[in-house]
Amino acid sequence: MTEWKRTHHCGEVRKGDVDQTIILNGWVNRRRDLGQVIFVDLRDRSGLIQIVLDPEVLGSEQFALAERLRSEFVLSVQGVVKERPEGQVNEKMATGEIEIHVSKLAILAEAKTPPFQIQQASDVDEALRLKYRYLHLRSKELQDTIMLRHRTAAAVRSYLDAKGFLEIETPLLIRSTPEGARDYIVPSRVHPGEFYALPQSPQLFKQLLMISGFERYYQLARCFRDEDLRADRQPEFTQIDVEMSFVDRDEVMRIMEDMIIHVLAEVKGVKVDSPIPRLSYQEAMDRFGSDKPDTRFGMELVDLTSHLGQSEFRVFADTVAAEGVIKGINVKGAGNFTRRQIDQLSEKAVGMGAKGLMWFVLEENQVRSPIAKFLTDDELNAIRTSLAGEVGDLLLLVAGSYDLVSDVLGRLRLHLGKELDLIDEDLYNLLWVVDWPLLVYDEDANRFMAAHHPFTAPLDEDVDLLEKDPGKARAKAYDLVLNGVELGGGSIRITSRSLQERMFAALGFSMEEAYDQFGYFLEAFEYGAPPHGGIAFGLDRLIMLLANRSSIRDVIAFPKTISASDLMIEAPSKVSDRQLDELKINLRD
Ligand code: AMO
Repeated sequence: MTEWKRTHHCGEVRKGDVDQTIILNGWVNRRRDLGQVIFVDLRDRSGLIQIVLDPEVLGSEQFALAERLRSEFVLSVQGVVKERPEGQVNEKMATGEIEIHVSKLAILAEAKTPPFQIQQASDVDEALRLKYRYLHLRSKELQDTIMLRHRTAAAVRSYLDAKGFLEIETPLLIRSTPEGARDYIVPSRVHPGEFYALPQSPQLFKQLLMISGFERYYQLARCFRDEDLRADRQPEFTQIDVEMSFVDRDEVMRIMEDMIIHVLAEVKGVKVDSPIPRLSYQEAMDRFGSDKPDTRFGMELVDLTSHLGQSEFRVFADTVAAEGVIKGINVKGAGNFTRRQIDQLSEKAVGMGAKGLMWFVLEENQVRSPIAKFLTDDELNAIRTSLAGEVGDLLLLVAGSYDLVSDVLGRLRLHLGKELDLIDEDLYNLLWVVDWPLLVYDEDANRFMAAHHPFTAPLDEDVDLLEKDPGKARAKAYDLVLNGVELGGGSIRITSRSLQERMFAALGFSMEEAYDQFGYFLEAFEYGAPPHGGIAFGLDRLIMLLANRSSIRDVIAFPKTISASDLMIEAPSKVSDRQLDELKINLRD
């Protein structure tokens, strides 16, 4: 065929095109032989279309070509659009009302039999799918996700552009800093024995851009962190990274929530009301046992310590003596759980570090619980009323330190929410968590660490706590949570040198040490730094939620496994002795 270039995309041909002669390019999705005639579903990224290869139309030479077609061959076909005969319309296909009666056929590329069926790839071993990622990427599922990713990035860019943000790139070969996660490091050939680090985020550069006067910056920034991987963590990932000058916390949050609301509307047609609700970190922990609460269902944690503090029951008395807390949740209507189901919950709680899980089933005339006999009627009543318990409910209590109790009940709540199907999957619940602790004590390092990073400003009213009670100081920091996933986090930054010095002192750094690590950055603040703040969102996480996937691996074109390998290109890999020699690197055993 001399002219093989397409006139139409496969998924876009419609009844209105009937009787036109068109050219299509694409892959053989499926071939079926019906008597003499061969039917092929031809696929390009716009979708599928049925083509009909009939020896009467094609002639014997061209039909011989048609008989060679196998899955994943790449074709060009020319033919006439025809309405499908009555009874053969396929309502499930966008092009199901028509088919193409092919008059010319060219095979542009042949294909080996793929290692798995493209459209059934989800059923095969993940290692095989990742080795042949470029084939899995042909599936409708992944094509749709990657296109959704593109539309999301485009919506972000158009929103930020309209608001006057400039897209500015920052370097990938930077200097290693010990704060934060572990760095990926890159040896320098020109400076033997010295290393670059890949950025964990463009944090310092975006702040320097504010000092340079750009006022509003953004970047879809690649970030690298050598940390333990989970479903929502990859060693390299993408942030929607933003920074702005002459703003306060409210303004950053307002502009950024508008951006996310804009993206949800553009990409998913979802309408979310603004302003987005805000919870303080403390309230989130108190009510949900989590700093990223999933607010799509209730089952909130209730503090029972004040009601049970006088109890003679050993577990309660000991907890209160150790300044711990007793908290509970009401699993509505779960009074019919079997003993086995309740035992499994207890095992889970113990696995999470609880000493035990206390349970109470509310029945018509009694409370069924292995510990009921140790409690007074008043105490049982207090438990029931505080948790708004009704007949048929299951109440679960945990006692211990505040952190432990929050964690255990927070995770049980999520587990039960999923198990009992309490979560409306169509909801997009956005939530700001604000007033984070500025510092967290690290028992191993025996010092305070920055909860966000060392350049995050404390709340004005908490500045003096930096010396008096550092653990109590709260930060001008904010996280945006979507359906229980931390989507993004940021803060207003410290711009005063004296405050920055007090922050470093609270972190146990001498000024000398601070200058050693961040000298260029601290010096920049002496040349006129505007007040500024920003945020970064995990783009992969956002797409994961928009695409209803449970892992960010599903929304990255070429992801890495949980052990940070790329199974397709087989990275990481050894390098040659010559390369090591050039870098003056000796490998240890
Ligand atoms: P932070 O470290 O909170 O803040 O990161 C911001 C967001 O990036 C996403 N994220 C990840 N996504 C996938 N894989 C990972 N390993 C991973 N780590 C983080 C999360 C997270 O909310 N520079 C600051 C932001 C600022 O202060 O402006 C920063 O990087 O969605």
